[in-house]
Amino acid sequence: MIPDETGATALHAKYGSPDRIIQHCRAVARVSMVLSDALAARGKSIDSKAVLAGALLHDIGRSRTNEVGHGWVGAKILEEEGVDAVVVEIVRRHVGAGISAEEAPSLGFPEGDYVPRTMEQVVVCFADKMISSDRARPFDEEVKRFERKGHDVERLLGLRRRMGEELGEDPERFTLERFSRLD
Ligand SMILES: [Fe+2]
Repeated sequence: MIPDETGATALHAKYGSPDRIIQHCRAVARVSMVLSDALAARGKSIDSKAVLAGALLHDIGRSRTNEVGHGWVGAKILEEEGVDAVVVEIVRRHVGAGISAEEAPSLGFPEGDYVPRTMEQVVVCFADKMISSDRARPFDEEVKRFERKGHDVERLLGLRRRMGEELGEDPERFTLERFSRLD
């Protein structure tokens, strides 16, 4: 099952997601859908229903934890709810710019690969990095946050590069042109 907007709202309510998380998810979904439409217009194959559900639900795990593990925790919730794997995997892989199978055990994650790879996974992960709270912001703010936290900046830049290659233009400019006054 792929939840629509009403279904996603019901799941957030069921798990008691805070309002600010729901607002954040909606903002990420709006950016994700514009990216998804642009990719489809370029002839790319993308499952926009999965992108919408994945974006709307990407942080549902924050109803249980605000640690980096909220990605896989949210994925587990959705799996138990009978949500399709294509959506579950978007949620599981949205944290940071992805977590490799080598890093996963040291973070206490269940074994596996957590790097966004499909177009749907890349779109939601990238859109999430462009949104702080419920506002679009320069990508560089996320780069600086990665630097401060000692995260893998190269992987973050790789995510942006992949998004740009798929989109055929600078994905940061594309997003900010459309969402600089996101409200
Ligand atoms: Fe998240």
